[in-house]
Amino acid sequence: MKIQLLGASARHPAARPGAAAALKGLSLQIAAGEPVAVIGPSGAGKTTLLQVLACAMPPAAGSMALDGINPWQLPRSALQRLRGGLFLAPQVPPLPPRQRVVTAVLAGRLPAMGLLASLRSLFYPTDIPAAYDALDSFDLADKLFERVDRLSGGERQRVGLARALLAPARLWLIDEPLSALDPTRSQQAISTLLSGARQRGVTLVATLHQVDVALAHFPRIIGLRDGALAFDLPAAKVTRELLARLYDQFEHELRGEVPNAPPQALPAGPQPVVMHCR
Ligand SMILES: Nc1ncnc2c1ncn2[C@@H]1O[C@H](COP(=O)(O)OP(=O)(O)OP(=O)(O)O)[C@@H](O)[C@H]1O
Ligand SMILES: [Mg+2]
Repeated sequence: MKIQLLGASARHPAARPGAAAALKGLSLQIAAGEPVAVIGPSGAGKTTLLQVLACAMPPAAGSMALDGINPWQLPRSALQRLRGGLFLAPQVPPLPPRQRVVTAVLAGRLPAMGLLASLRSLFYPTDIPAAYDALDSFDLADKLFERVDRLSGGERQRVGLARALLAPARLWLIDEPLSALDPTRSQQAISTLLSGARQRGVTLVATLHQVDVALAHFPRIIGLRDGALAFDLPAAKVTRELLARLYDQFEHELRGEVPNAPPQALPAGPQPVVMHCR
């Protein structure tokens, strides 16, 4: 799917009155089947960009076209159909805790199914081999029949990514796919996403905090800062100076550090109450 943004701005409906726009006059073109990494410090507008591209929120100004069509001028039913061809993977995938992994992964196919088939697949997973293959690509085949709430955070994140391999989508919008993964799993996950997108001819837009991974794997890097385009370059042309400017005053993010990391040992005294959501 081809993406065109022209002077696009975006403002969250819940933003404080007078708050700066989350995206400001962004212009970019991404070709069908092209993989792109979006980097930038926290609050730069990376997630907002994905939400705009996913047609979850309209640009407040400027224009957007997907395959040459402005989604917001489509009738409601056509907009819904278009959304069915977009796959948005949020940083924390919204997986029902008591669901089996196999069902959660096959849910990636729901946009291509009718209502009855969708309901049936929630109770009787239909294409277990496909779910197995998708999970196996993320080294999770052994979790096929596990319950989602018995997975680690990184495993859940990979289940969310495995859904992409089954989604009937032409655009993958992947938000921070590596935030809960160790370095080895990160390399594996990003390689799987890139090769999966290439094989399917899918456009891949991934936001990443791991600048080194972005530069090593993606041919094109978009740098965002304060909602605006800082640069849009082939990875080989992203210099240390550009990165230093992009992350100016956010150097800890560039180095992958946690700012003001709490001490390892818990202080003496009452222990925090841990709440579990079920
Ligand atoms: N739901 C929301 N309501 C109001 N403002 C929001 C909302 N989500 C994000 N914002 C604001 O929009 C701006 C961009 O946020 P966004 O989440 O796109 O940044 P980001 O680059 O994804 O950051 P991070 O790296 O921390 O995920 C920020 O100033 C943020 O406070
Ligand atoms: Mg974000």
